[in-house]
Amino acid sequence: LNNNLGLTPPMGWNTWNRYGCDINETVVMTNAEMLGILGLDKLGYRYVNVDDCWNLATRDSMSNRTIVDPERFPSGMKALSDFVHDRGLKFGIYSSAGTLTCEGRAGSLGYEDLDAQDYVSWGVDYLKYDNCFNEGIPSFERYQTMKKALEKAAHNHTIFYSICNWGLEEVWQWGNETGNSWRTAGDIFNSWESVKYNFEVNQLHPDVAGPGGWNDPDMLEVGNGGLSHTEERTHFALWAVVKAPLILGCNLNTISNRSLSIISNKELIKLNQDSKGDQAVCVHNCHSLKDSEDVQVFGGWNKDNGGYYGLVAVNWNDLESKPISIDFKSLGLTKSSEEYCSVYDLWNKGVHIGNYQGKYLIPNIDPHDNVALKIKCKRKASSLE
Ligand code: GLA
Repeated sequence: LNNNLGLTPPMGWNTWNRYGCDINETVVMTNAEMLGILGLDKLGYRYVNVDDCWNLATRDSMSNRTIVDPERFPSGMKALSDFVHDRGLKFGIYSSAGTLTCEGRAGSLGYEDLDAQDYVSWGVDYLKYDNCFNEGIPSFERYQTMKKALEKAAHNHTIFYSICNWGLEEVWQWGNETGNSWRTAGDIFNSWESVKYNFEVNQLHPDVAGPGGWNDPDMLEVGNGGLSHTEERTHFALWAVVKAPLILGCNLNTISNRSLSIISNKELIKLNQDSKGDQAVCVHNCHSLKDSEDVQVFGGWNKDNGGYYGLVAVNWNDLESKPISIDFKSLGLTKSSEEYCSVYDLWNKGVHIGNYQGKYLIPNIDPHDNVALKIKCKRKASSLE
C-alpha cells in the first residue's frame, strides 16, 4: 500500500501469542516499558499492538461507537496510546472485518468510518484487521472499505494497515494494493511444526511483497517456551531473511537472556530491514518441506551495506546433523568457480569468517539449527576484505 509506511517490515510487540484474551492495560504498559528497558526499541521494535479482547461485544446503543472494556482498560485507549507514545513507541490496535472479532467482541463491519475515527482520535498507528464473522462478503470488498475509512479519517496521520485474512481468497493478488502486510497462513502456534508450516506457506508468492507491503507468516513465538533454543534461532533467522514482520509475542518481563539475544541480533535485523525489501527464496534443495530431512537454503540480494547476498541454511532433519556446501556459482554469486567470496557470520556479530574460492563448506548443522551468512564476491581474492 502506497501510504509511505512499512517501507521495511514492521517491528514491534503484540499481546496475542503470549496472553491471548487475557489482557489488560497493565500487561500492555509493562511490556511497552520493557521494550525500552531491554533496548529493543533502539533495535527497531517500535509498535506496541493490542490484539483481540480490548472492547465489549456490543456497541453503544446511542452513538453506535465501540466500547473499550472498562475493566481491562479503565484508563481508556487514548491514555494507553499516550503512554506508549511518551516512550517513543507507536500504538496499534485490532479489529475484525466482521460483525464480531474472533473472540466475540464488536467487529467493524458496517461501522468502518466510526471505528476509523475513534482509532485516529486515540492516536492509533497500526491496525490489525481480522476476518472472523465476515458474513460471507468477499475479503477484497471488506478490506478495501476499511482502507478507505482509514484514509478518510486519518487526514495526515497514516495508519499501518495489517490484513489478517489468513491467506484466503488469493490475498496475494490484492493484498499489496490494500494493505501494508497480509497474513499468508492461519494462526501460528507455539510449536516447531507450526513455525515450519507457516514459513512454507509464506514462500508461495514472494514476488508480490516489497517496500510498502509484506507477506506475513504471523507473529514470533520466540520466548514462549514451545520451541527449543535452536528452533527459536531458526524461527527468527527465517523470518528475518524472508523480510517478514518481526512482531514479538512473548512476555518481555520474564524473557530469558537466550531468547533476548536472539531477537536482539543486529545483523539479522539489518538483513530483515534492508531497503531493497526482497523476500529470500529457496535456492537449494527446494522440494516440499513436508517430510524434508535435508538442509535447505533461502537466499536473496540486499542493497544496504554496499550490497550483499544474505542466506539462511536450515537443517530440517529431526535427528541428524548435516553438512552443506554453499556453491557460489550455482547460487549466481559468481560467474566461474575460480572466483572468491568473503563470508560473514550473521549469528556471530557479522564477523568475517574468511575468503573462499568456488564454495564455502559448512561441515555440520545441528538438527533444526541454521547458519546465517552474508556473502560478498569479487573477481580476485586480493580485492576482498
Ligand atoms: C485470529 C488471528 C489471530 C488473533 C486472533 C484473536 O485467529 O489470526 O492472530 O488475532 O484471531 O482472536
